Amino acid sequence: RRFLQNFGRVTLVLLLTATGAFIYVTQVQAHPGEQLPADKTKPTLVVLGSGWGATSFLKSLDTEEYNVVVISPRNYFLFSPLLPSVTVGTLEPRSIIQPTRYITRHKKRAVQVYEAEARDVDPINKTVTFQDLSDIRGEAGSVTINYDYLVYAVGCENQTFGIKGVKEHACFLKELSDADKIRQRLLDCVETAAFRDQDEKEIDRLMHMVVVGGGPTGVEYAGELHDFLIDDLRKWYPEIADRLRITLIEALPNVLPAFSKQLIQYTESTFKENKIDVLTRTMVKDVQADRVVVQDANKEMREIPYGLLVWATGNTSREITRNLMAKLPRTQTQRRGIEVDDYLQMNGAPGIYAVGDCTATAYAPTAQVASQQGMFLANMFGKMGQKMRAERQLQELKAEGGAAAVEAVEGLEKKVTRYSKLTPFHYSHQGSLAYIGSEKAIADLPLFNGNVASGGGAAMIFWRSAYVSTLYSVRNRTLVLADWMKVKIFGRDVSRE
Ligand code: FAD
Ligand code: NAI
Repeated sequence: RRFLQNFGRVTLVLLLTATGAFIYVTQVQAHPGEQLPADKTKPTLVVLGSGWGATSFLKSLDTEEYNVVVISPRNYFLFSPLLPSVTVGTLEPRSIIQPTRYITRHKKRAVQVYEAEARDVDPINKTVTFQDLSDIRGEAGSVTINYDYLVYAVGCENQTFGIKGVKEHACFLKELSDADKIRQRLLDCVETAAFRDQDEKEIDRLMHMVVVGGGPTGVEYAGELHDFLIDDLRKWYPEIADRLRITLIEALPNVLPAFSKQLIQYTESTFKENKIDVLTRTMVKDVQADRVVVQDANKEMREIPYGLLVWATGNTSREITRNLMAKLPRTQTQRRGIEVDDYLQMNGAPGIYAVGDCTATAYAPTAQVASQQGMFLANMFGKMGQKMRAERQLQELKAEGGAAAVEAVEGLEKKVTRYSKLTPFHYSHQGSLAYIGSEKAIADLPLFNGNVASGGGAAMIFWRSAYVSTLYSVRNRTLVLADWMKVKIFGRDVSRE
């Protein structure tokens, strides 16, 4: 009895402490303190983008020594690894985004955030020109500002290889609006297929969901779509649910080329069990409003009708990046993106630092790389800021003169030397994870000086825990956990806006 009483007391204390900590953290997030105003004597640091690279940079940056300006067409950070879950309503869109101002308003010195698109970077005169894209203003305002330092993190856009009809007819899966478009189109296909006296052939077309690209984006989307079919479609649309077919088209001999062989086989066999057709060595050559034209493994051309087409064939540089690189033809020669040195400074452009998908480095274009690069740069800018501060104090002391200052001068000189020492960027790979549907995930993890490959339900729990802990805020974690629970209890919402 005494044991039970003690156990009860300890549990109560733990619960109260956890609740107190939760309230404290959320209140600190909601009511940050006063910020220092802009200071004309400090250098201007412009950040382009609000994705993985820019946000991890902003999160870790000490802004005291800089006037920071953030420019991005979206005023929030998007947690892209969970984006495929939004396409079928497993997660709500707002659960995986975080306003950029949530991050910047906690900084020591105030940060300017502009919802605008950078249109031009002049690396010689050190200027950025950007444009307000809002419809409200009517005539879009274009502004040019000077920078001392520029952190370039604009990501990249969807690769289409110039294939006709892709931009007009396919849905991409990169932005939040893309996931919403897919969800709407998917439900439109299902509702139209369920319409009274619908033609049989038309039902087959409408219920055929085609995914192009067997990289992680295409595979994760196909997995989510399968879950939607099994968990919800069969319940709400029993008359046509079994007509839904999913086809994944991949040009290479197998899906997920970046994962280990064992996990490729595991994914392909799971897809087979789940009746997801995987057409490998098959390349899409043309896209029309209701069909794709493919060249199959035997080099024969055929047509595949579809209701929804999701295009996930990788990345290509944005126009602004191509234009910036074209201004430095001698030092920027890679087609893949911006070339940087070991400290992430753009070759041939002093003061410009580039991170993430817009760069051409030895690493894959992933969130992991972009966020580590952002964090590295924030540390480097922190050291540069501390050096500037120490140098300023040194100058003041030297001007003061006198015996008392001599010792302090020595200390400060040591500080300046210490802060001048910068170490190059080093990427530490934490492993690759992907969700493949039916509560299974795959994980390639660098463990015990080797690689551990695992697939199945345990990997799925790991996948969920890893992403929940990586989400940027308590708010996001709470919303994502609540969405998962909601779907378990009530199923996904099939209403169409
Ligand atoms: P982004 O995050 O794309 O950010 C670019 C930013 O620049 C955006 O805010 C954009 O609005 C802004 N921008 C665009 N144009 C301009 C302009 N002209 N001026 C100013 N700003 C501009 N990686 C993983 O490691 N693990 C995963 O599980 C994973 N899952 C993914 C799932 C999906 C569906 C997708 C699409 C990608 C996934 N990735 C994953 C890859 C990852 O999202 C990218 O590698 C990462 O987003 C790159 O970060 P970034 O900062 O370079 O670019
Ligand atoms: P990707 O470049 O990884 O894969 C695209 C695939 O499309 C390739 O396998 C390619 O062969 C295929 N393809 C290209 N043209 C084709 C055509 N005409 N017909 C048929 N197939 C064609 O692109 P993805 O999946 O968008 O990923 C982009 C980046 O984001 C990668 O670096 C990836 O690692 C990362 N990412 C990581 C995730 C994870 O770790 N879970 C999830 C999503 C993306």
